[in-house]
Amino acid sequence: MPQNTLTITDNRNNQTYTVPIEDGTIRAMDLRQIKTSPEDFGLMTYDPAFMNTASCRSAITFIDGDKGILRYRGYPIEQLAERSTFLEVAYLLLFGDLPTEPELKSWVFEITHHTMLHESTKKFMEGFHYDAHPMAMLVSTVAALSSIYPEARNVHDAGNRLLQIKRLIGKVPSIAAMSYRHNMGLPYVYPDNDLSYTENFMNMLWKKVEPKYVAHRAISRALDILFILHADHEQNCGTNAMRSVSSAQTDPYLSMASAAAALAGPLHGGANEEVLKMLDEIGSKDNVPAYIKKVKEGHGKLMGFGHRIYKNYDPRAKIIKWSAEQVFQVTGRNAKLDIALELERIALEDEYFVKRKLYPNVDFYSGIMYQAMGFRPEMFTVLFAIPRTVGWLAQWQELITDPEQKIARPRQIYTGSEVREFVPMAKRGAVVAAD
Ligand SMILES: CC(C)(COP(=O)(O)OP(=O)(O)OC[C@H]1O[C@@H](n2cnc3c(N)ncnc32)[C@H](O)[C@@H]1OP(=O)(O)O)[C@@H](O)C(=O)NCCC(=O)NCCS
Repeated sequence: MPQNTLTITDNRNNQTYTVPIEDGTIRAMDLRQIKTSPEDFGLMTYDPAFMNTASCRSAITFIDGDKGILRYRGYPIEQLAERSTFLEVAYLLLFGDLPTEPELKSWVFEITHHTMLHESTKKFMEGFHYDAHPMAMLVSTVAALSSIYPEARNVHDAGNRLLQIKRLIGKVPSIAAMSYRHNMGLPYVYPDNDLSYTENFMNMLWKKVEPKYVAHRAISRALDILFILHADHEQNCGTNAMRSVSSAQTDPYLSMASAAAALAGPLHGGANEEVLKMLDEIGSKDNVPAYIKKVKEGHGKLMGFGHRIYKNYDPRAKIIKWSAEQVFQVTGRNAKLDIALELERIALEDEYFVKRKLYPNVDFYSGIMYQAMGFRPEMFTVLFAIPRTVGWLAQWQELITDPEQKIARPRQIYTGSEVREFVPMAKRGAVVAAD
């Protein structure tokens, strides 16, 4: 018997089957041969929320949740955050290797020259209600770009795909900034090609009457680091939406709108906003022990703590904590940081949190940092969506070029009625119930 196999005995009929084990998995389709009769459909797996199912092979991002490791294309996130820029990381995620100097120069040039939006995009955005949530505007406007670039439907043409990738990475910050300006009742600011990716974004957000909004270098670098940390995180809810929708060969604008819609959910991209609310509720460092006691008694959760995959310190949280200190040197210390540090100190020593392996996640410090940088809480998920655009597009490319992938179509366990005869209107209700 080859070693890398699994032998299964079906106790319903004592039949034995041997299926290969490859990369720590068995193929769900190998179970289909397990039947009790020729009419039997065959065995399936049942896995709500994909708790134990690999849906693809991917060479983009590696996570070891027990050890707290995150790598993009093999490079540790700590090294990328310290030594590279967001657009360099975008190139790495999309093309598989770090760019050479000329490659990076031309990549930055290309992205910079795709930041402009078609004027009709501005008109769609003007149609939103004055207090529309910026995330709802982002999702809808990204979808609307599909109507401006109909050639994007040709997803099998590599050159065409690359053009749409550049457009999306270039235009998403412009849409994000427009959604903010619309909310604030401010006139839109057009992109400025003299500025870096993050400086241009901040100029489009915050320029008033001055010729250019000049972001402090430490702040634009901190935003660049935050973008690096959020660029990809393998098969999470939004990325799964991207892959699932684009498996129908839907164009990348519509697919990405679905991924961003998933990110907008409070269980996914919204936790950083919740951390801020929690810190406000706690109010001061002295109230931390009482708050922790309340959480341990089952009243609420410590927001920004715990993770489905990380059962160790989220490596991104460590970097954000360090980067926040640099930001506070410019902006002044956010008073909420002291409460957060005290929460972390107590929680990391407390048996309840230690036993459950609950550590700070990426959202624990990012909200405090965004707030200190001048962002409103409504923008926090949008700030997540800008860099995650790169991850979604890298995963989309991988899906489209993977010969094993087909349209995503899970199975179900049907729990409804057996076949029944149509009931005419006159016989429905009490009469039928009495039958
Ligand atoms: C992220 C999260 C959804 C992961 O959930 P999960 O993998 O399904 O983990 P579970 O809900 O099964 O939690 C396991 C145990 O830890 C507890 N727990 C998990 N996160 C907790 C938190 N933040 N505060 C207090 N207790 C927590 C659960 O109550 C459960 O305890 P029990 O075994 O006594 O029932 C969860 O940790 C959470 O809600 N965190 C707060 C929200 C947050 O920060 N989200 C951002 C994620 S990046």
